Amino acid sequence: MKVSKIRARALAVVFSGAFAGHALALDPGNAAAGAKVFKKCQACHSIVAAEGNKIGPNLHGVIGRKSGTQEGFNYSDAMKSAGIAWDEATLEKYLRDPKGFVPKNKMAFAGLKKDSDLANVLAFIKQESTK
Ligand code: HEC
Repeated sequence: MKVSKIRARALAVVFSGAFAGHALALDPGNAAAGAKVFKKCQACHSIVAAEGNKIGPNLHGVIGRKSGTQEGFNYSDAMKSAGIAWDEATLEKYLRDPKGFVPKNKMAFAGLKKDSDLANVLAFIKQESTK
């Protein structure tokens, strides 16, 4: 391969990296793949309305809900006063870095680091949350 070609390739990689960094929204996720990611949440959460609260609040209807308002759940003061409207954007931020987005909240979960896991679990939550 000629040097100029190698250069062009390297530039293309650099540029696509820069653009990927700029894209704020996640790619559309896959709900079936998200069901697998949600297994990590299930130790503490149900998304089936009839199953109620567990260690964490029930997540049925969470999209469109205000943070800290699921009936019968004993939230931390941090979550009670956070005043977040849960939508895809705020859920993404919280699930990526729970303690960073809502300092002192009591969800003992480190967060999802992979964009694909986040996109997929959001697709799953969107699907199940309104069932
Ligand atoms: C170890 C238990 C645990 C795990 C695992 C866990 N959570 Fe939580 N989650 C909690 C607790 C406890 C709270 C309440 C936090 C508070 O009151 O400070 C919470 C709060 C939340 C909230 C805010 C709900 C509301 O009503 O305001 C959302 C959304 C959420 N979790 C989603 C998830 C998702 C999605 C996952 C998996 C990717 C997950 N959680 C994993 C325990 C957990």
